[in-house]
Amino acid sequence: MRAALVTSFDQAPRYRDCPDPTPTGPHETVVDVLAAGLHPRVRSQAAGSHYTSTDTLPLVPGIDGVGRDAGGTLRYFVLPDTTLGSMAERTVIDVRRSVALPDDADPVLLAAAMNPAMSSWVALRRRIDFRAGQRVVVLGATGNAGRLAVEVARHLGAGAVTAVGRRAELLAELEGVDHAVLLADRDALGAAGGDADVVLDYLWGPATVEAMYAIVPRRVDDAQRLTWVQIGSVAGLEAPIPSAALRATRLELVGSGQGSVAARDIVAELGELAAEIGRGTFAVDAVAVPLADVEQAWVDAATSRQRLVVTPSPPRAG
Ligand SMILES: NC(=O)c1ccc[n+]([C@@H]2O[C@H](COP(=O)([O-])OP(=O)(O)OC[C@H]3O[C@@H](n4cnc5c(N)ncnc54)[C@H](OP(=O)(O)O)[C@@H]3O)[C@@H](O)[C@H]2O)c1
Repeated sequence: MRAALVTSFDQAPRYRDCPDPTPTGPHETVVDVLAAGLHPRVRSQAAGSHYTSTDTLPLVPGIDGVGRDAGGTLRYFVLPDTTLGSMAERTVIDVRRSVALPDDADPVLLAAAMNPAMSSWVALRRRIDFRAGQRVVVLGATGNAGRLAVEVARHLGAGAVTAVGRRAELLAELEGVDHAVLLADRDALGAAGGDADVVLDYLWGPATVEAMYAIVPRRVDDAQRLTWVQIGSVAGLEAPIPSAALRATRLELVGSGQGSVAARDIVAELGELAAEIGRGTFAVDAVAVPLADVEQAWVDAATSRQRLVVTPSPPRAG
């Protein structure tokens, strides 16, 4: 079969021949892959830089996708850590880490949205004790995951949502936000975050430190819990957190992702989220790219604001 193949961590995947996959466990099955999202997590997998990465090469990238099983059922699936990812004509899935989709589901839409939407959905439903009416700040609200976090927080009952980003023109495009605040505007960020209950942080690095310096001194009630959820790290892998911030206010720092949320808890959320995405609850900006163009897709994804979705060849006959 054809697949996207990584043979070196400093090169984009190439469109190459690859052996057909075979299931080994009792819950495994082969699916024809229809769509696989080119998420930041997939880029770091292919670069060998994700925290789950091993040095094993070659590898087929792709952590999730939509495929059709041998019985004809369309499935959204999440793969375990594997060197046989979803950017191939066929891959092996564990059916327990998948959810059946209606036959008219849009594979590209689902493959584009599930990973970025899960980041806030799982954080709010599985990682922290979020309650309807609470006030949410999204740090990094103009990316795919951040934009969806604004909508997911609203959908799950947030009392108010503040979107924080570095570009005014992109913040202005966001709908359903109570406040849109530039990261560099310490005063406005402090005012918006003063009574927040939750921060969903996609940035980390210096951006997180700057946001803490803006928000913590402006807390209306220092004893009000502020749960700061580390989700992404587009602005830096490390952040020098001011020690006083953790003493002076009831600031609690947690992370949400693969590992800090059990796989069974993530899988338990797949069906409901897929249904919401399928019925158009959230705006999704996706573009399909043939698997044969995967090398160019890697270049384009570095600057595209849309979520690129790799679409392997049509399923084999018979
Ligand atoms: N933990 C989880 O469960 C989970 C799940 C999915 C994703 N994530 C992580 O979430 C992060 C975002 O993912 P995504 O899909 O939204 O990526 P994306 O669509 O590529 O968006 C990235 C955003 O980051 C912003 N950005 C980049 N560098 C920045 C900086 N120095 N300061 C401020 N903003 C900066 C960009 O802002 P502009 O719009 O201004 O260019 C862009 O909007 C990634 O780290 C990803 O790995 C985590």
